[in-house]
Amino acid sequence: MNDESDHPRQPGRRQFLTTAALAAAATAVGSAPGAQAAKAPGDKTGHAAAAAGGDAEPFWGTHQGGIATRQQGHVYFASFDVVAENRDQVIALLRAWTDAAARLAQGQTAAALTEDPAGEPLDSGEALGLPPRRLTLTFGFGPGLFIKDNVDRYGLAQHRPEALIDLPRFNGDQLVAERTGGDLCVQACADDPQVAFHAVRQLARLAYPAAKMRWAQTGFLAGFGNKETPRNLMGFKDGTMNVAVDDPAALEQFVWVGEEGGWMKHGSYMVARPIRIALEHWDRMKLAFQEQVVGRHKLSGAPLGGQHEKDDLNLDANDADGNPLIPENAHARLGAPASNDGAQILRRGYSYDNGLSFVAERWPPWRQGMEFDAGLMFFCYQRDPRTGFVKVFDKMSKFDMMNQFVTHIGGGLFACPAGAAEGGYIGQALFESA
Ligand code: HEM
Repeated sequence: MNDESDHPRQPGRRQFLTTAALAAAATAVGSAPGAQAAKAPGDKTGHAAAAAGGDAEPFWGTHQGGIATRQQGHVYFASFDVVAENRDQVIALLRAWTDAAARLAQGQTAAALTEDPAGEPLDSGEALGLPPRRLTLTFGFGPGLFIKDNVDRYGLAQHRPEALIDLPRFNGDQLVAERTGGDLCVQACADDPQVAFHAVRQLARLAYPAAKMRWAQTGFLAGFGNKETPRNLMGFKDGTMNVAVDDPAALEQFVWVGEEGGWMKHGSYMVARPIRIALEHWDRMKLAFQEQVVGRHKLSGAPLGGQHEKDDLNLDANDADGNPLIPENAHARLGAPASNDGAQILRRGYSYDNGLSFVAERWPPWRQGMEFDAGLMFFCYQRDPRTGFVKVFDKMSKFDMMNQFVTHIGGGLFACPAGAAEGGYIGQALFESA
């Protein structure tokens, strides 16, 4: 991302104290949960009101943000194990998270700051001076919130949605326990990585002692704004064919849970999976083969046999030898709605880069050594994972040529409830129905 041009200058120490004092004064005025966001000019930055105008995504609403929101440049995803002793503690956590999230989305501190040296540390401060940068916080509930080790810890077991299945083991899965699952999750997206990190850091502190972080993954997206489809680390445009976030009818059909979902109505199911890409291996492949793997041209993004990126996939076209122009096991063919009885998912992935790790490759050139620990932090949203991710990925996991280069190493399925009404909290419908 080229974020430099619109970054505000960082406040110096002196300015920090001034804005902290301003923030304390401004937010001391109204502290009713949920009612304070956006109403405190000067809170945190001294210019939050102006910044929040153009640069803030709404927090309160029918749906949670971060799903149909135009994709931001950065993600910090974190999954949590809930260790709360009782249901009230879980509710208190969700209330605290909701209140903090509403403030953070406005570019405010997680709670009103204090200058009292003996006061509680209510915000770590690294986002002071930064505008909201379109921060969204999307919360999800994993199966373990409802039932864990056969224990109904919080009286929620009977309200576990049928759609919140235990994901099957897919062909090729190499899921590492330390990067898999979680009872709660938050996907923090923003156009500034420090804003996303800051938000998760505050939520992790607020979670104590009811929940603790289990695994996390950051990610980034090539910075084309919404002008061009971003390229992933394989060098291909990724996101050409997707559920359009500005098409309400498509969102209703494929992404938002309807009446069938009970308390999950207006929510969505998130599949989050870190997928390692063997980049060294990929980089040795000739261009023509890479294009066969994806089913698209690398430079233009056009489907094989097509001219332009947005051309429809012609799944029936053959070459002079009678072979399909888009191979039977090309990624784009296997993902296409026409290959999946019309199934569609909203993909919202980010590239990730965790530096280098020691890897023993399972494909030629069968190298052992330090390699890029990088890939795709895959996110997709759908109305029902059984007719979404599971439907599409089942075939892909068996036949996709891309599987030589990609390995799913963790992840989870999370029920992301509807958005909260101002003054309410995320997941309220669940706890009120249970
Ligand atoms: C590292 C892993 C992956 C990479 C690098 C990758 C890359 C791509 C690329 C380059 C495209 C073509 C451009 C586009 O239409 O957006 C694509 C399309 C697609 N991918 Fe993936 N993908 C990955 C994993 C997955 C997974 C796990 C799924 C799960 C179901 C998936 C589902 C799809 C779908 C549905 C399409 C659109 C197909 C169409 O409608 O034409 N991808 N992907």
